[in-house]
Amino acid sequence: MSGKLHTIRVTVNGTVYERAVEPRLLLLDFLRTSLGLTGTHAGCEHGVCGACTVLIDGHSARACLFFAVQANGLSIETVEGLGTQESLSLLQEAFHEHHALQCGFCTPGMLMTCVDLIKKYPLADDDEIRDGLSGNLCRCTGYEHIVRAVRAAISKTARREASK
Ligand code: FES
Ligand code: FES
Repeated sequence: MSGKLHTIRVTVNGTVYERAVEPRLLLLDFLRTSLGLTGTHAGCEHGVCGACTVLIDGHSARACLFFAVQANGLSIETVEGLGTQESLSLLQEAFHEHHALQCGFCTPGMLMTCVDLIKKYPLADDDEIRDGLSGNLCRCTGYEHIVRAVRAAISKTARREASK
């Protein structure tokens, strides 16, 4: 079944896209299918696992619970905007150094959740980190290495800020 198309204008990782979309198209499918940004993963597709987490106007949100039309005029950040293979972000480096991923399926959503967490709670302790990650499921790591990576990223960010 197809509905009337709506033209939306969305900024994704700093690039403006204008596309005609069906009203029921999920932001998750818009990113993956219309824009080819497959770093945002489709897991449960009903708001439970966190694999689809992106930043919407700077706040972490489930792309599977958001329609593409709702993103009209908004700014979206996905894992593709964090860093490149040649130049990882500080958080990606910390995930790499602390073995915070195994299969990697949860990783894009974890990273985007952590970006928001560190921005909002730059002095988060382990309990706050665990609380902040509690909406993202990982079936491989047991979470401990992810917590270590976030702790390391928080320390590195604090040192970087102090040396400015
Ligand atoms: S795919 Fe969105 S929360 Fe699981
Ligand atoms: S690394 Fe496999 S689900 Fe998290």
